[in-house]
This record gives sequence, structure tokens and C-alpha cells, in this order.
Amino acid sequence: MSELSVKHLLGIKYITEDDIRLIFETADHFKEVINRPIKKVPSLRDITIANLFFENSTRTRLSFELAEKRLSADVINFSASSSSVKKGETLIDTVNNILSMKVDMVVMRHPNPGAGIFLSKHIDASIVNAGDGAHEHPTQALLDCYSIRERLGAVKGKKVVIVGDILHSRVALSNIFALQKLGATVKVCGPKTLIPKHIEELGVGYEGNLRKALEWCDVANMLRVQNERMEISYFPTTREYTQQYGVNKALLDSLGKEIVLMHPGPINRGVEITSDVADSKQAIILEQVQNGVAIRMAVLYLLASKIKHNEDR
Ligand code: CP
Repeated sequence: MSELSVKHLLGIKYITEDDIRLIFETADHFKEVINRPIKKVPSLRDITIANLFFENSTRTRLSFELAEKRLSADVINFSASSSSVKKGETLIDTVNNILSMKVDMVVMRHPNPGAGIFLSKHIDASIVNAGDGAHEHPTQALLDCYSIRERLGAVKGKKVVIVGDILHSRVALSNIFALQKLGATVKVCGPKTLIPKHIEELGVGYEGNLRKALEWCDVANMLRVQNERMEISYFPTTREYTQQYGVNKALLDSLGKEIVLMHPGPINRGVEITSDVADSKQAIILEQVQNGVAIRMAVLYLLASKIKHNEDR
């Protein structure tokens, strides 16, 4: 297989296992490229990409921009907080105005679930979802699975627990889809109030006890409590949450085996993970960020190949 089955990357739900494998193989190549003294390739020289961020981001925004520049694309950046969205301009008007400047691809983060899907029905440009509300964050899940593959040799057959605020997490949903497509077994762990009601319908197990979850797994993906998405209290105090669902060195040392620790960032140090664990060799948090550039280069390259292929016909 040499091309993706989709024109847009809107969510892991909409792509196949073969798509993921192709993205990983392409990322392997780009990872080698970005470790060379000359890190830039001309692959997207005639492509213009708009990064539209309607919500805050550090890692995803910078990682996409770097990936685009490493591929020699022309890049424009849009941040809603300093734009005419503040004057009441709609999403469609904003995007159509940007596209009239001859943009080929759109990378979009938006607070509303399904914003990318909505946009894909109204514009011709290829869309990459960089996080839509509590729905999906596909490139995060791809870089997470790629990092597991790099550290443990494969994703297939591994046991992965996702810990914490599953209810508000686009990272959790995209990870569940990606891990399952690649043959991993997934459990979630956290306070019942932060677990979606019908999670088992996704083929995911629930474990309420963090120690048992860690004893079971090969990999623990620790999620941030997303206070900004909570209108009510989901647990009594942060101290109590940390006591029950935070990982610390004493807990990890008592397991009698070494597991891999992940975190999508940003970290609440001392809440879901202590600093000594986050900075330890067991944690692959910065490897995840590093792999994010190669994964995003692969996604952009493969989607752009489809645009070029269609133009050549
Ligand atoms: N992991 C992640 O999406 O981080 P940012 O919100 O900083 O992009």
C-alpha cells in the first residue's frame, strides 16, 4: 500500500490499520531525515499549509509548523485569539477567506467536537484535525503508538492503561482506536465520574484501582485532569485525586517490573505524575514530542501526495 485511504485526517476512527502502518513506515524515513545535519527535504515545495488554532497549544502547533518547514511547505499561521473571529466572523467565512489565498491544506485545532468533519463538507482543501474538543486528536495517538512501537518493538499484544480524565479527553479516544487497530489491549483507570458511561462498548476494560492497573499493564498513559473543560467538581480534592490516581516512584518501585510511562502533555507535575517519575528513564514523554515531528511530516506528506496525484490525472 502506497497511499492513504482518506483525503483528510479527521480521526483515527476513519482510517485503517494499513493507513497507520503506512504512516509509521513513512515516519521512520522522516525520523532518519530529521537526524541528519541537513534536516530539510523539498517534498512539499509547492504546497501551502494554513495552521488554524482556535484553542491554545504548545506541542501540536509547534510540531506541525516544524514538520511543514522541514518538508519545505509554505506556511501561514492563524490564532483565533488575535483574529477577526473576535469580531464575530464564522468558521466557514474565516476558512474560506484563508483558502482564497490558494491554500492546499488546513491543520485545525478547535474547541468544538466535529469541527474538522463539518469543515470537510464545505471546503476542498485537505484537513488535518489537530484536536477537536473532547472528540479526537489523531496525530497525538499516532505519535503515542509510534513511541510504544519504538520502545517495546511492537504495539500488537501490549497491554496499555490510560489513566485519569477519560471523560474530557480526545487523546484517550484516539488512543483507544489506534491501539486497538494495532492489536493492543486497552483498559482505562480513574474515578468513575471521569469515565464515560458506555466505555465498555468500545471494547475497553475498566480498572478502578491504580495499583492493579499498573500491575496488569506494559504501558501507562497518564492524562492531565482538564480543569478547563469541567463545569462541576468530579472528585473531592486534587490531593485526594493524586493519592488515588497519581503515579510516584514508590508505587512504581513496588510493582516488581518496569512499565513504560507516557503523558501527552502539558503535565500537571505532582498531580497525575511526580517530577522524579516524569523525568526518569521509564517515562518517554520527550520521545513522544520528538516523534511527533516525524509523524506529522508523514501525515502531511501522504495527504499532499493525494492532492498531487489528483492534480496529475
Ligand atoms: N499534547 C498536546 O496536544 O499538547 P498541546 O495542547 O500543547 O498541543
